[in-house]
Amino acid sequence: MKGLILSGGKGTRLYPLTYTLAKQLIPVANKPVLVRVIESIRDAGVHDIGVVIAPTTGQDIKTALGDGSRWGVNLTYIMQPSPDGLAHAVKISRDFLGDDRFVMFLGDNVIQGGINRLISDFAGSGWNSQIVLKEVENPRQYGVAKLRADGTIECLIEKPADPPSNLALVGIYMFDATIWEAVNTIQPSRRGELEITDAIQWLIDAGRTVYPHVHQGWWIDTGKPMDMLEANGLVLEELTPTIAADAVIENSQVDRRVTVEKGARIINSTVRGPAIIGENTVIENSYVGPFTSIYHHVTIQNCEIERSIVLEHSAVRDLDVRLQDSLIGRYATVCRNDERPKAMKMNLGDHSTLWTV
Ligand code: DAU
Repeated sequence: MKGLILSGGKGTRLYPLTYTLAKQLIPVANKPVLVRVIESIRDAGVHDIGVVIAPTTGQDIKTALGDGSRWGVNLTYIMQPSPDGLAHAVKISRDFLGDDRFVMFLGDNVIQGGINRLISDFAGSGWNSQIVLKEVENPRQYGVAKLRADGTIECLIEKPADPPSNLALVGIYMFDATIWEAVNTIQPSRRGELEITDAIQWLIDAGRTVYPHVHQGWWIDTGKPMDMLEANGLVLEELTPTIAADAVIENSQVDRRVTVEKGARIINSTVRGPAIIGENTVIENSYVGPFTSIYHHVTIQNCEIERSIVLEHSAVRDLDVRLQDSLIGRYATVCRNDERPKAMKMNLGDHSTLWTV
């Protein structure tokens, strides 16, 4: 069995971060979502993995992942010239996949509990495809499945205005070689993309067996900033906390659900978990509250921060209000201005959002 990870696309809903950073490389609990996807596929016993990339962010993804040996997998990169849809990404991966059975995992999805059982069920079955469904409150944002009373799939619709159920398609799919006829036959949708949902519907209409697995744990499609923060909280809750041997904790309260990575320094501060403090990060005279991930080489000084993600090489200093529910990019600075005139000064990227108090 092979793996296929989709890491192309534009990531427009995560602007401004994704102007300069592939959305799949944004870390959740200090580990890029894409690395979490690779680890889930590897842990299910699949080591030969294709990664579909886009011209804009592909090089960054290649630099971050290399040949995959760090995670014990072999990665093959497949360039998709433009984001023409998930089924298009499958279509251009034909040379890599051959006629093997494969699991396709969207590079921005995070799922609880891994995919070992899904892979073993599919490997031991005669099914042509397996899809994963999850009950959601907002089905309009996803592909949606309608099941019959006997549990088989009646139909699948991509982002329906009037959803026939609340069962969303999770971004994990398994296929055998029958998918090739499907992706070669379907036509672009109204939004101009070759939809994987249409390809699976084609399999169903052609009498192929598509097994719907309904997932019981949590699942997040990290499309928007609030989804990122939610995924971050859920993953942090499941992390087994560790404190690196060379971490410095001085005159501070760090509770047991906190992970402190190599070279981090926590001085005169309180850190309440679940939280993670990254490599060579300094927390000084500050409060870091639950559900916060501070990545590597960050400085947090004289302030309070909670339920947030701060990316590498950033600094948050001297704030007199608590920062919360925030997503701060790389090399960013957030600090108080004590000079006159007492005005707000900012240098925000396109599509940034700033709430003041
Ligand atoms: O997350 C689950 C949803 O994913 C499903 O419920 C939908 O049926 C499915 O169409 C998909 O919808 P999204 O709108 O969330 O897809 P998005 O455009 O965000 O792309 C998902 C991933 O695939 C993302 O990592 C980017 C990548 N991608 C996307 C396109 C359109 C590609 O690699 N190539 C592409 O052409």
